Amino acid sequence: MSEAMSAAAVGVAGSGTPGEAGGVDKDRRTWIAITCGVGAVGGVATAVPFVASFAPSERARAAGAPVQVDISGVKPGEKLVVEWRGKPVWIVRRTPEQLESLKKTEPLVADPNSQRTQYPTPDYAKNQYRSIKPEVFVGVGICSHLGCSPVDKFTPGAQPSLPDDWAGGFLCPCHGSTFDFAGRVFKNKPAPDNLEVPPHMYVSDTVLLIGEDKKA
Ligand code: FES
Repeated sequence: MSEAMSAAAVGVAGSGTPGEAGGVDKDRRTWIAITCGVGAVGGVATAVPFVASFAPSERARAAGAPVQVDISGVKPGEKLVVEWRGKPVWIVRRTPEQLESLKKTEPLVADPNSQRTQYPTPDYAKNQYRSIKPEVFVGVGICSHLGCSPVDKFTPGAQPSLPDDWAGGFLCPCHGSTFDFAGRVFKNKPAPDNLEVPPHMYVSDTVLLIGEDKKA
């Protein structure tokens, strides 16, 4: 195994959706972890193009090293953001309701079985949940259209820019692509592919290694 860097959660970043703080999603929190002392990562989950919103770690970018993350503090309905190779990697601990919503979205998404190859989904995530453990989604938070960072839209129901039967997931504010709780893009949206699932593996029940899966 190559050298891994530990990640430390450094704070609560709010919902990640501009204008949503204090709104219907106020009981949900997004945590941002930093891997190498990069301090200004607060904009990682904001609705601005990725390149402008995320300060990559020079060390991680140079090394491309795997990132080790303790997810024991991530509660159901919360999202942790860590940096890997300069990309925001989301770790979402999905609630039973959020997992259930994937049955509803199954016929509505463009590539329900993750068969497209632009961003190949690892075999261990080629399932309805697109994950190793059903409750824990690990995905790269970069839209497959033009690279914006989608924002959290975890609350189901009608709301601006979303359909009335919205089941919860993510919205890319740049051109309106939507993704379900497994990062599967909905049909007829600008984004051509699901959110990328990076190589990853569990080194213990609560510790993930992002960037390595023994097959890499
Ligand atoms: S960059 Fe996401 S929809 Fe265009």
